Amino acid sequence: AAPAVLRAQLLRWYDVHRRDLPWRRASGGEEERAYAVWVSEVMLQQTRVPVVVGYYERWMARWPTVRDLAAATQEEVNEMWAGLGYYRRARFLLEGAKQIVEKGEFPRTASALREVRGIGDYTAGAIASIAFNEVVPVVDGNVVRVISRLYAISDNPKESSTMKRFWEIAGQLVDPSRSGDFNQAMMELGATLCSKSKPGCSGCPVSSHCQALALSLENPSVKVTDF
Ligand code: ADE
Repeated sequence: AAPAVLRAQLLRWYDVHRRDLPWRRASGGEEERAYAVWVSEVMLQQTRVPVVVGYYERWMARWPTVRDLAAATQEEVNEMWAGLGYYRRARFLLEGAKQIVEKGEFPRTASALREVRGIGDYTAGAIASIAFNEVVPVVDGNVVRVISRLYAISDNPKESSTMKRFWEIAGQLVDPSRSGDFNQAMMELGATLCSKSKPGCSGCPVSSHCQALALSLENPSVKVTDF
């Protein structure tokens, strides 16, 4: 695929189809946005968008900044998290907030963000690209599916060598001037049109680059990476 054309097509699609979600509206400075992206991405790791919206809005009303969160207790945080599951994530959010406040500023790069408790490659890439425009990729299950179809990759994503390859490809694809939008567009494409079963190839903005479609492998009953 010619990355420049693919990027332009995907971003044009995203500009029209992006969902209006509260964390995409986050106003204020970059640090406020970073906090908003962090909270939403951690919630989205285990729960679908429609459910996360309510939790996110209640959370942000109670703790609008990382400073407010750092002053909360574990009990308050757990209570707010109730129903989302995986309480370890809520604990990491609180510990991470304390770490960031102690440090005095929100880390601005993916590599600095990875030093924060509970922030791994995915969350670091999401915050760095969406809030700070760093040109870094993001790979989640949706992105794995999109890339596996674009490049007709049938390797097992449970292997770390396969994931390394997906991160490399995503790093070559990411748009150099709109990395955050590009990453969200990839995730959004995977969550909507490029679904696991019955992908909506006829409406897909990048179908002309899709090797799985060209080889008639887009149907999930045929072997392309299953994620
Ligand atoms: N899934 C998880 N995070 C997302 C984001 N920022 N945009 C679209 N889908 C997502």
